[in-house]
Amino acid sequence: MREGRGAGAGKVILLGEHAVVYGVPAIAAGLDRGAQATARESDEPSTLRLGGRLVRADASADDELARAFAALLAVHPLASAVAVEASSELPPGGGLGSSAALGVAIARALEGLHEVDADGERVAARATAWESVFHGNPSGIDATAALRGGCFVYRRDEGARSLRLAADLWLCIGKSGPGASTRAMVESVARLFARRPEQQRSTLEAVLSLVKNAELALEAGDLTGLGRLMDLNQMLLAGLMVSTEPIERMCALARESGALGAKLTGAGGGGAVVALCASQRAGALELTDADAASAAERILAAWRASGFDGLVARVRRSEPQESP
Ligand code: MEV
Repeated sequence: MREGRGAGAGKVILLGEHAVVYGVPAIAAGLDRGAQATARESDEPSTLRLGGRLVRADASADDELARAFAALLAVHPLASAVAVEASSELPPGGGLGSSAALGVAIARALEGLHEVDADGERVAARATAWESVFHGNPSGIDATAALRGGCFVYRRDEGARSLRLAADLWLCIGKSGPGASTRAMVESVARLFARRPEQQRSTLEAVLSLVKNAELALEAGDLTGLGRLMDLNQMLLAGLMVSTEPIERMCALARESGALGAKLTGAGGGGAVVALCASQRAGALELTDADAASAAERILAAWRASGFDGLVARVRRSEPQESP
């Protein structure tokens, strides 16, 4: 029997979540862990098996998963029904783009089944339809990261542009507690902005300037500057009421343990925190692997001592371009 396989990357937003929904650019990096899916043709109605759950594609079901699967299939209807099995290494609702990674993995598996280009527009369209069921008004940054990986600037009306990193980024990513629904957090920011248009204007302007500076810092390898910008972004996110006491505590623990900056990542209301690891050698542009690993370990140890778990992710610098 024919089979298609697909994968999608998880992501971490370094700066600009929430503002990106309103057209401000954001910076994200793909993670080297994510979701996988396998699709086979089937004589039965289309089904999706995910983490012990089995749903039928159904556009009018109460179950979001069944509706999302139906929306993804409906973008380009297939000649035959499919049985899809999917799994994710990312915590759901954790801010690491689990649902987008799943949407891209499933869409790629379907395209693989029919031997169509797995990076084409159809995958993006299917993943966006899937995401819209869970998120209501997604900016598209999660699906873009799941599709392309790497480090990039994303703008809702322009799409993604790759960033050339001058130094590796060593990130500690920790879980502050159960994640909140992205849809609920995006809607709560929308209500806040409707009540306080002046805060909307000033926040979006401030995030825009942080993101522009972060772009320069990443391309220059200025990790200290990048860390400060992440801290400032966290203050603005707290002003949008999407931070929580455990998130603030994890950020403080990370900074006290030598992180250059720390913030929530994703929609907030719980979920993931990202901390940028520092070099042990003052003035060094880049960490040696051993320096970075011990800097990361100090942060993880401080989190664990306070009951929070975490992992280390490395975003590799761009290869220097060949001169013509
Ligand atoms: C979620 O990972 C990022 C948000 O900005 C929502 C979105 O961009 O779709 C909160």
